[in-house]
Amino acid sequence: MTEQNFIPKAYSNTIESGKVTWESPSNIALIKYWGKKKDQIPENPSISFTLNNCKTITSLTFSKKENTTNFEFEVYLDGEKKDDFKPKIETFFNRVEVYLPFLRNYKFKIETKNTFPHSSGIASSASGMSALALCLMSLKRQLNPDMPDAYFNQKASFLARLGSGSACRSIEGDLIVWGRTGVIEESTDLFGVKYPYKVHENFKEYQDTILLVDKGEKQVSSTVGHNLMHNHPYAKNRFQQAHDNFKALKPILESGNLEAFIQLIESEALTLHAMMMTSMPYFILMKPNTLEIINKIWKFRQETGLHISFTLDAGANVHVLYPKNEASVILEFIKNELVAYCQNGHYICDQIGMGAKQLTM
Ligand code: PMV
Repeated sequence: MTEQNFIPKAYSNTIESGKVTWESPSNIALIKYWGKKKDQIPENPSISFTLNNCKTITSLTFSKKENTTNFEFEVYLDGEKKDDFKPKIETFFNRVEVYLPFLRNYKFKIETKNTFPHSSGIASSASGMSALALCLMSLKRQLNPDMPDAYFNQKASFLARLGSGSACRSIEGDLIVWGRTGVIEESTDLFGVKYPYKVHENFKEYQDTILLVDKGEKQVSSTVGHNLMHNHPYAKNRFQQAHDNFKALKPILESGNLEAFIQLIESEALTLHAMMMTSMPYFILMKPNTLEIINKIWKFRQETGLHISFTLDAGANVHVLYPKNEASVILEFIKNELVAYCQNGHYICDQIGMGAKQLTM
């Protein structure tokens, strides 16, 4: 597969107008993507749990227009016009136009909402960009109805990647791999693929309670952070480590070895933040309460022997991960001991999910 596979031939249908709606989830990486080449090609492979409850719901209304000089679209968040979202979408349209040559032929209304609170510090770019990519693919499918489902998903993921790298892991569930690794035959830098090997029962319905430590805007965007991996003193070793962790993860997922799983994902989370702290310029996205929570998790794990663990994304919030069969005791601990470290006591209960869903045709 190359980019060329996604450049379409002539369309068989003409469509005047319509509306499609998709809901698409967020995802949380276990092996992290941090560092990229041109066109959001990752420096190393990553793997994520698709989430179930943190979602973006996007409707795309389209009608054919005469003048094809410009892109024409309006964006609404929770029913309110959002002109400040337009530059990001304009950039996205420019990047994907070669793969969706109809973009200048339609006037679009993009209406979007998130199931998680706005300004929760949870990035909506993965769910938002994947939902938009899926809506555009639905229009494309109306123009070319004989498109196989596998191609639909691959191209939706490919387009979402061009919007925001990790968004390509938000099309399907439940474990998604993005980035070429020798461990997984079908893996590619171009789009996310379902993890193809055996996954132990221990990981079914794996729980993710997201502790909202800091809901503010990040001081350093992930685009800037990724770029700081160029000429980073530890970059080469870090990228190699991600490859090695893939090799290690495969037997862990197969055997259900939770101790080894915890060690691997916590190391990945701390390595991600270590890369930030050792960039030039350096930065820290964790907050004092992030560390309080991590220490409490470690203490509780040592005292109880339960399989509670954490991961982090590019921010201060903590994703507390644990198996379903230990959920009641661990959730009690979270409520009693960890929620106090969340901003306004806010947290979100989520779990591994099955991927995006089309809501209307
Ligand atoms: O997709 P981006 O460019 O926002 O980068 C996301 C990077 C991490 O969330 C930190 C890691 C990952 O693999 O999702």
